[in-house]
Amino acid sequence: MVSYKTGTECVDWPQLYHLYSQVELVASLGKRSEFNKIKSAFINSFKVVTAGKADKLVGAGRLISDGICYGTIFDLGVLPEYQKQGIGRHDE
Ligand SMILES: CC(C)(COP(=O)(O)OP(=O)(O)OC[C@H]1O[C@@H](n2cnc3c(N)ncnc32)[C@H](O)[C@@H]1OP(=O)(O)O)[C@@H](O)C(=O)NCCC(=O)NCCS
Repeated sequence: MVSYKTGTECVDWPQLYHLYSQVELVASLGKRSEFNKIKSAFINSFKVVTAGKADKLVGAGRLISDGICYGTIFDLGVLPEYQKQGIGRHDE
């Protein structure tokens, strides 16, 4: 079963870096191993959601927003071996 968490307090950062090394989002910072920048980018986001299966982080995404009028989802990624199982489109 996949569970979804909001916020960065419980994020397993090494697993998040692994995800973005695999799916090459966050302006390719994962590909370039610039992991501290990924952490800052996520902590500074309006909202962060992660998807986990048991203790494994399998997906994540973040919302950049002013909290009032506008917001955009960025860096929605699911580990390749977990894609096409409804994790990315999950809505709760
Ligand atoms: C895009 C991604 C997050 C989808 O996650 P997922 O868990 O595999 O997706 P789900 O199984 O929940 O849903 C699949 C649906 O997403 C759609 N989809 C897949 N990639 C998409 C994309 N780049 N843009 C829009 N829709 C996409 C599929 O067409 C499918 O729709 P359908 O069921 O109507 O055919 C995943 O494929 C991924 O991590 N890709 C690499 C990173 C990426 O390109 N992210 C998007 C840019 S931020």
